[in-house]
Amino acid sequence: MDHFALKDGALHAEDVALSRIAEEVGTPVYVYSRATLERHARVFREGLADVPNKLIAFAVKSNPNLAVLKVLQSQGFGADVVSGGELNRALAAGMTPDMIVFSGVGKTRAELELGLGKGIGQFNIESREEGRELAELAAARGKQAQACLRINPDVDAKTHEKISTGKAENKFGIPLVHTREVFDELSQLDGLNLRGVAVHIGSQLLDLEPLETAFAKVGQLVADLRAAGHTITHVDLGGGLGVPYKDGEVPPSPAEYGAMVAHITKDWGVHLTFEPGRVIAGNAGILLTKVVRVKRGGNGPPFVIVDAAMNDLARPALYGAWHDFDAVQPTGERMTANIVGPICETGDTFARDRECDALAAGDLAVFRTAGAYGATMASSYNSRGFVAETLVDGNRYAVVADRIAAAAIMDAERVPDWL
Ligand code: LLP
Repeated sequence: MDHFALKDGALHAEDVALSRIAEEVGTPVYVYSRATLERHARVFREGLADVPNKLIAFAVKSNPNLAVLKVLQSQGFGADVVSGGELNRALAAGMTPDMIVFSGVGKTRAELELGLGKGIGQFNIESREEGRELAELAAARGKQAQACLRINPDVDAKTHEKISTGKAENKFGIPLVHTREVFDELSQLDGLNLRGVAVHIGSQLLDLEPLETAFAKVGQLVADLRAAGHTITHVDLGGGLGVPYKDGEVPPSPAEYGAMVAHITKDWGVHLTFEPGRVIAGNAGILLTKVVRVKRGGNGPPFVIVDAAMNDLARPALYGAWHDFDAVQPTGERMTANIVGPICETGDTFARDRECDALAAGDLAVFRTAGAYGATMASSYNSRGFVAETLVDGNRYAVVADRIAAAAIMDAERVPDWL
């Protein structure tokens, strides 16, 4: 459930008319709803009520906006970060270091140093080599890094191949067959307190079964490691819970997910970390756009050309992803259209043969479920600027990320004097 709904015939974010934001901030623009973020945070937390000892660490990559992070920080969330940039954002949003988990397959030396320097709560180590490097850096500071070993359970998450992370051929984690040996080695190192394992098999999961299979493997591994004399106090179960992008898509609810987790982990006796991203932020944001013009198609439906493009919302072009597309002021009339952006490649297509509200030049429309992996994946392709972001709270809103004009990006470029 979200707070983007029609009021008196016009689409609002909470109590703010989207037409007002378009007028005052311009389009394209992302609009987030605080009430929706808070609701999702609460529902996720309540779903895990039967899991006693836990940290919910928001996957910052899904929406790193500082204001969004601040909302989640006040909901008691920590952060799952995958770069120095994300780590600094989480800290800037007021998340305390002990509530920050550092994931990622290619953390640089500088990033490991940063995490150590800030005293973050947990590193999820993705290779033997990373573990050795982290241990060495920590020991040189006279510290012990708190760490889990990320394993690769070789489970098919049954999601888009580009966002699947838990198959043996994926770059993430340590294959189960090597885990014992790597754990034995790394747990000996002075600079590490290797206290558990982590797993994350993919994103936009619409079925609990792959998660359950992966968690069962983790449970077995915890038992095996303990039997081998290791002390296991922490397990990180990652993120991945899907959201409904279109009618008829029914992902497991946080309550169902929580019940499965509570059941499968009940005898583990560990502290659990969760790293939800999309399920918290996805439906809490929309991308508001204006129709530039409508152009007759060659042998198909008309092209509705909007002022948002694949540089602002990359998911359709990258993954063939579906985002519902609705008019801000629907008339009740419908049309079938190809929804495209202005960028000079055919990939800049949001939807083909889509049945949608009838639209004409100048009309406003929204792409829904754009709060996760939306603005954060924007680029300046075609010398378009970076899209602005706003956050609505009841009947007020604020610009929470300025539009970065194409001119400002050009200002950062230099032509050497030998040209
Ligand atoms: N933890 C780790 C280690 C991850 O790699 C991810 C996502 C998450 C947590 C959060 O997963 P979520 O709960 O959001 O599913 N750009 C793609 C999604 C990439 C996800 C990458 N990892 C998209 O737009 O669909």
